[in-house]
Amino acid sequence: MAIVDFIFISVALLSGAQSIRMPSVISDAPKLLLLSFDGFRYDYLDRPLLKPNFDFAINKGVRAKYMKSTFATKTDPNHMTMVTGLWEESHGVVSNKMYDPKYREIFWMNSSDPKWWDGDGKVEPIWITNERKEGRYSGVVNWPGGDVKYGGRLPTYSTGPYNRSIPYTDRIDAMVRWFLDDEKPMNLGLLFFEEPDRSGHLYGPDSAQVNDAIMMIDDTVGYLVSALKEADIYDKVNIILTSDHGMVEVSPTRVIELNRYIKPEWYIWVDDSPVSAILPKRGKEEQIYKKLRSAHVRMKVFKKKDIPKQWHYRNNRRIMPIIAVADDGWSIVQNFTQNTFTIKGNHGYNNSIIKMSALFIAFGPAFEEGLTSKPFSNVDLYPLMCKILDFEPRPNNGSLETVKHILFDYDSMASKGTGIAVFCTLLLVVALMAGGYYAWQRHYGHKEEPIVGEYVNLDETNPQQGGGGGVPYEQQEQHLNLKNQTKASYGQEHGYGGTQ
Ligand SMILES: *[C@@H]1O[C@H](CO)[C@@H](O)[C@H](O)[C@H]1NC(C)=O
Ligand SMILES: *[C@@H]1O[C@H](CO)[C@@H](O)[C@H](O)[C@H]1NC(C)=O
Ligand SMILES: *[C@@H]1O[C@H](CO)[C@@H](O)[C@H](O)[C@H]1NC(C)=O
Ligand SMILES: *[C@@H]1O[C@H](CO)[C@@H](O)[C@H](O)[C@H]1NC(C)=O
Ligand SMILES: *[C@@H]1O[C@H](CO)[C@@H](O)[C@H](O)[C@H]1NC(C)=O
Repeated sequence: MAIVDFIFISVALLSGAQSIRMPSVISDAPKLLLLSFDGFRYDYLDRPLLKPNFDFAINKGVRAKYMKSTFATKTDPNHMTMVTGLWEESHGVVSNKMYDPKYREIFWMNSSDPKWWDGDGKVEPIWITNERKEGRYSGVVNWPGGDVKYGGRLPTYSTGPYNRSIPYTDRIDAMVRWFLDDEKPMNLGLLFFEEPDRSGHLYGPDSAQVNDAIMMIDDTVGYLVSALKEADIYDKVNIILTSDHGMVEVSPTRVIELNRYIKPEWYIWVDDSPVSAILPKRGKEEQIYKKLRSAHVRMKVFKKKDIPKQWHYRNNRRIMPIIAVADDGWSIVQNFTQNTFTIKGNHGYNNSIIKMSALFIAFGPAFEEGLTSKPFSNVDLYPLMCKILDFEPRPNNGSLETVKHILFDYDSMASKGTGIAVFCTLLLVVALMAGGYYAWQRHYGHKEEPIVGEYVNLDETNPQQGGGGGVPYEQQEQHLNLKNQTKASYGQEHGYGGTQ
């Protein structure tokens, strides 16, 4: 093989290197891919399922026992926490549905207006900060808040506004393409996937459908590794496989009806379940609090100032004067009609409930191999990623101390980057060799190293992948109108697979 390679390169050099297509010169900055599989509970991988690609990643890298989600354990808030290292009260995306008293408007997940995302101009996600460094480019696919301008900026690469119809494989192909761009090679990519959250909501965390989704995601991980290997960049890219929150089973037999205790005309029901955000009408706050406080043993009710400190969920105008939080597996509705309660799984609960915790696996040159790590919090992901990308984190609530043990050779990482000059002089040689190898592989069409697991055609094996089947995201949401707060069809609001 070495001889073949050598001959090939020599021939290529003699015949003029430009006659063969060179692989793109990839970014010399540290390279990182962050993949979030919505609602992938930390322990789903402990099920006896066929998951060769996850097994490969775990052996190759680090798996944390779990990654603790941030309260409220909802999708948009936790995705913002991961990319900023801020508690929800500090980045300001405090739920998937929220009311802002300054704008006098409701947020319903589908808005790309920066005013909902950028913390009054103080919040900047990691993909923007990455691009502030010379020669660095970020790419974002479907990440919540990813199509929003922060300080007027968008990432260099994006698939545009959220589009759940983009097949999972296309999302990965886009990333590989951006890594290989000749002019603006990407070094940081973020990808969002709707499963297994969708199946978790619809069929419950213990369903066969969730198990199918896990195996489909395993295929997706296999596809990613193969695609990176194919592009000859696999061993240069750091990969984090993670999630925003977990999932628990809910049931129509575990429902708390607010309107049994308080009159609907006393309040606006800003957010539903399991964290009900209640905006009392003028003069009704005390009355509502008194009625709800001891209403149900499975529901904890807090005035804003008394929300438990460890949730870091007080100090924001979008947190409502009263919140009611259901216990694990319970649901809060205004009033209840069995046929509107269609979901079988939910999340959003107390983040200390372990089933709200997320998956965390990381592999690549920056990470230790074969390590099982103690748990850490998802605010710590941000300083970890900044360390890998080698830039100063913005002010945040995370801690590198709690995660640095998962980095390979942490102490010497600081000095990385001093060898840039040497790197550049070697670059041409490396490129030529890689070119030879790449062309040789294309030519002889065989790999020395077996691809991890078999990549199965995702479209055939799982019709749900890529968000297939279902109304487009934009049409899934119902309009929540402050003046017309009558819709109480809990099931309809939840019985879909958007980025809940
Ligand atoms: C969403 O993605 C699908 C699949 O790639 C594509 O056919 C469709 O045009 C996209 N929708 C929009 C609004 O871009
Ligand atoms: C959250 O869960 C933890 C662990 O179960 C528990 O100790 C704590 O009291 C819970 N907090 C609330 C407000 O329910
Ligand atoms: C979280 O970080 C932000 C930004 O540094 C800071 O303003 C806030 O006070 C921090 N929160 C806590 C609880 O320390
Ligand atoms: C969000 O959804 C609501 C309800 O469908 C709609 O009225 C509103 O215009 C949407 N906003 C955006 C920015 O798409
Ligand atoms: C349920 O609550 C809504 C909103 O308060 C109200 O309009 C509706 O009449 C109630 N339905 C029942 C069956 O009580």
